[in-house]
Amino acid sequence: MEEKINRVKFIINGRHYSAGEEFGVDLTLNEFIRRYGEYRGTKYMCREGGCGACVVSVRAPQPNTKEIATFSVNSCLVSIMSCDGWDISTVEYIGNRKKGYNIIQKRLNHYFGSQCGYCSPGFVMSMYSLVKGSDRHLTEAEIENSLGSNLCRCTGYRPILEAFKSLAVDPNSNILRKIKDIEDISEQICPKSGKKCGGTCEASADWCLVNMNSASGSDLPKKISLADGRLWYSVADVRSIFDTLKDVGYKSYMLVAGNTAKGVRPILFYPKVLIDISNVKELSTHYLDVNLVLGANMTLTDTMHLFKVLSKQNDDFWYLDILYDHLDRVAHIPVRNIGTLAGNLALKNSDPCFQSDIFLLLDCVGATLTNS
Ligand SMILES: Cc1cc2nc3c(=O)[nH]c(=O)nc-3n(C[C@H](O)[C@H](O)[C@H](O)COP(=O)(O)OP(=O)(O)OC[C@H]3O[C@@H](n4cnc5c(N)ncnc54)[C@H](O)[C@@H]3O)c2cc1C
Ligand code: FES
Ligand code: FES
Repeated sequence: MEEKINRVKFIINGRHYSAGEEFGVDLTLNEFIRRYGEYRGTKYMCREGGCGACVVSVRAPQPNTKEIATFSVNSCLVSIMSCDGWDISTVEYIGNRKKGYNIIQKRLNHYFGSQCGYCSPGFVMSMYSLVKGSDRHLTEAEIENSLGSNLCRCTGYRPILEAFKSLAVDPNSNILRKIKDIEDISEQICPKSGKKCGGTCEASADWCLVNMNSASGSDLPKKISLADGRLWYSVADVRSIFDTLKDVGYKSYMLVAGNTAKGVRPILFYPKVLIDISNVKELSTHYLDVNLVLGANMTLTDTMHLFKVLSKQNDDFWYLDILYDHLDRVAHIPVRNIGTLAGNLALKNSDPCFQSDIFLLLDCVGATLTNS
């Protein structure tokens, strides 16, 4: 493989960083943000994708469309080497004492949704990513359904939910009444469009949450010799995966997609070679002949979106709507944003005791695995 730049490059809170041979494979995005970026607003607790304290917002090109998408991730699950071309925002960046707080932070405060505050950055960044990543205004029900990624031991959740629901397109009047006397109630009306928007419309670009700027991606393939003696490869197509396998010979290796499976089964020893396949276009697309053929590394989020669309467009696939409802209960949004079908199935294959919903669903509809 032609060796290009042997570092990964990414942005955190508007600052450019790179990482390479000075780090081992187990350095997570969470540790990098806190230790090297020195942004300690992003917390951690479980380090297995369960509590949401570590959630940050990412803007990155999608492997299949190259369009820039905004999505949340659990920074405790992401290897820093997977962040090539990412533009990452933490709670300090979206609003702070100096530049003023973001509307989500303000609402959480006004509704008394923060007590000890440990969970608050994660909640704020989950909500922020949700709004930024959506191309339309969110309903109360969607907001309520989306926060399964975050735990709070203090508030009992109601004030957090009310704070975030106040930003919905259809806010309940009881919820709005609680902020009647608060200055930022005016933020319900967009100063540019003059319409009700809850601070989430494109027209009100000065302060609104939706932002369509683009971030630049990274040249692939890459090969990085890590400080722990391991090799990290990032590839962009299936042929490069096989070229890499030829290159590494008999060394032990692991494919890395979303890297979320370690939240379910911790990785005690990494193999010598890691091959990042999260940017492989062929693996993240789908096509229709008489069957629906899903790319192995479609994320669960993309799979859900596809199921929703196809179930509406094509009568033969009406049942995908039911599968969508089931997938909506699998893990939570930040895991589904980067976790993939094949990653789940490979986990099931290596550990039959893992209660895989993906295996169950695909088996129920008689799906088969192909190598085309
Ligand atoms: C907090 C949490 C909650 C969860 N809840 C649920 C749940 O309710 N139900 C459920 O079913 N699952 C659940 N999961 C599991 C989740 O669905 C998986 O972690 C995810 O799908 C794995 O995908 P990944 O891309 O992150 O895989 P990775 O972690 O990147 O990879 C996992 C394994 O798959 C292999 N692999 C990846 N792609 C390929 C490929 N193309 N070919 C061959 N091998 C490949 C990798 O080499 C690795 O061995 C949960 C996970 C977490 C962290
Ligand atoms: S630290 Fe708990 S989800 Fe990341
Ligand atoms: S406010 Fe204390 S954990 Fe949520």
